[in-house]
This record gives sequence, C-alpha cells and structure tokens, in this order.
Amino acid sequence: MPEKYQERFVNYLDVDHLDRKRVRKMYVNPEAHAAAQADQELPDGTVLIMEDHDAKTDAGGNLVRDADGRLIALEPVSNIFVMEKNAAWTTDNGHWDYAWYLPNGIPKPDAKFEGCFSCHTSRAERDFTFTFWKFVSDQKK
Ligand code: HEC
Repeated sequence: MPEKYQERFVNYLDVDHLDRKRVRKMYVNPEAHAAAQADQELPDGTVLIMEDHDAKTDAGGNLVRDADGRLIALEPVSNIFVMEKNAAWTTDNGHWDYAWYLPNGIPKPDAKFEGCFSCHTSRAERDFTFTFWKFVSDQKK
C-alpha cells in the first residue's frame, strides 16, 4: 500500500459512474507522471491507483451534482486498486502486478487477481493501462 499517495501522487483523472453511483479517482506517482509528460515509457516503479468512492445522493436516492455537474465523492474510499510495475517481476502482464486494499489499508482478504491480469492484458499495447494511457495521449492532442 503506497504511503500517503493522496498527498504525494498526481490525481490525473476522476471518473463519474452514474449507473453505479460511484466516483473513481485515479492517481499516478510523480516520477511516472513526469516520464509520461516527457514522452518516455512508464518507468520501473510506476504505481497507478484507482480509488472507489460512493457518490453523494439526496434523501430520495438521486445523485447530487456539484456546480460543474460532476458527482460528489463521499469519504472514506470504499476500495483501493493498485497496479505497480517492477522490472524484477515477470508476469503475464509484462512487469505489472496488482493489489486490492480496503479503506483501512488492509489487503482485501478474499481478493482474486486473475481478473486483473486477464482484463488489463486486453490493453497490452497501451502498457496494460486503461485510463492513464488515454490521459497521456489526450494531453498530446
Ligand atoms: C473486467 C475488466 C477489469 C478487471 C477485471 C479489472 N480491471 Fe482495472 N480497470 C478496468 C477499466 C475499464 C479501468 C478504467 C476504469 C474506469 O474508467 O472507471 C481500470 C482501471 C484500473 C486502474 C487505474 C489505471 C488504469 O489502468 O486506468 C487500476 C490501478 C486498476 N484498474 C487495477 C485493477 C486491479 C487491482 C484489478 C483486480 C483486483 C483490476 N483492475 C481488475 C478494467 C478491469
């Protein structure tokens, strides 16, 4: 579990999921963010984090929006998903491995990781990432 990532990391994207009444906040470590800005490959030690938050609803269960029309993330987080690249690891997903934490930072006891590998492998040509690759390529437009 990367320490103090909310302070150290770059929150590069928030995704509103209306159907699931959920907000996802995506973070990347500053070193990998800098490398991506400089058009370099994601370096060894890259960490990407996805936080799930319940979205704020009114008494009738309807989603509440902020002044910009975005959903409002409630605290605490409900789940924390992590992927990390380490040259020492050779997995089916290049050098990436996955972790899933509960809000208190404890690894989710019954977590299964086959799905992380198989689903993220579908983005092999994007270095196994969904949103970060897109974020970087969108910035170049
Ligand atoms: C069925 C496909 C699927 C599975 C299974 C899956 N992911 Fe993802 N993952 C996604 C998608 C799609 C996104 C973008 C999420 C969004 O836009 O809300 C994502 C985003 C992420 C991100 C943010 C960086 C990025 O690539 O955009 C992390 C970190 C992550 N997933 C970790 C995990 C972990 C850990 C597991 C297993 C416990 C897992 N994922 C299982 C599809 C999947």
